[in-house]
Amino acid sequence: MTAILELKKIHKSFEVGTVNENHVLKGIDLTIEKEEFVTIIGGNGAGKSTLLNSVAGTYAVDEGAVFLDGKNATHKRTNDRAKDIGRVFQDTKMGTATRLTIEENLAVAFKRGKKRGLSLGVKDKQREVFKEQLKLLELGLESRLKMEVGLLSGGQRQALTLLMATIVPPKLLLLDEHTAALDPKTSQMVLKLTDKIVQEKKLTALMITHNMEDAIKHGTRLIMLHNGKIVVDVSGEEKNKLSVPDLLALFQKNSGDTVTEDALLLS
Ligand SMILES: Nc1ncnc2c1ncn2[C@@H]1O[C@H](COP(=O)(O)OP(=O)(O)OP(=O)(O)O)[C@@H](O)[C@H]1O
Ligand SMILES: [Mg+2]
Repeated sequence: MTAILELKKIHKSFEVGTVNENHVLKGIDLTIEKEEFVTIIGGNGAGKSTLLNSVAGTYAVDEGAVFLDGKNATHKRTNDRAKDIGRVFQDTKMGTATRLTIEENLAVAFKRGKKRGLSLGVKDKQREVFKEQLKLLELGLESRLKMEVGLLSGGQRQALTLLMATIVPPKLLLLDEHTAALDPKTSQMVLKLTDKIVQEKKLTALMITHNMEDAIKHGTRLIMLHNGKIVVDVSGEEKNKLSVPDLLALFQKNSGDTVTEDALLLS
């Protein structure tokens, strides 16, 4: 079986040759199989977003290789990778167009990977698909297709963004703290929705979170980044029975660092 994502010894540094030179990813090896749902944790500046940006092509890696669905994507531009990748960011305003209606936003998302132009016309048949998909969210948006997206709440908007990122199921879904800007209750709603969409659409996903409990509770595999390396990688039963103290102990054992400081960073 071909892995959906293979990172082979990738390195990424910023501000090379200056006093601020920062070696952020230090030879990351990572293989993600189809339908794996990986949660990623790590302190501020650990390189989590840099890792996702390297997968999406936003950043070119300095060394190593990125394989997407068995094909070498290392030198492919973001646009060329975009047909295989769905992304949702922390900022609830990033994934949707404020002045367009719900159905117009979905129509734009529906064209991903297809070579036709960006016409906003929505056909009746498409509208039925959108309604069905919106029902998945259980937010009643299926009866508000003509509403401007700018009028939605942050949580509704993020749920819609999630749907847009997956309405044409991507080979890989990248979520970068997509619930961090939401209040705790809305955050849990969007996380539940994420589980549902990933399961129903049989997606392969990488999800960054700052919350260790969420990282344990969601997904099929958990990865912790520290000092540019993967220091924890657990899946299956081992992940299911993990507690936050277990995770901190694993981190301490594998990284050799004291837990107190990073426990704060990860809280
Ligand atoms: N475009 C860039 N130019 C310069 N430095 C960068 C750039 N992007 C990231 N960095 C640096 O790389 C390091 C890792 O950043 P990254 O955003 O990947 O961390 P993170 O783990 O996502 O952190 P957070 O939890 O705060 O989101 C940081 O020191 C950051 O300042
Ligand atoms: Mg980040």
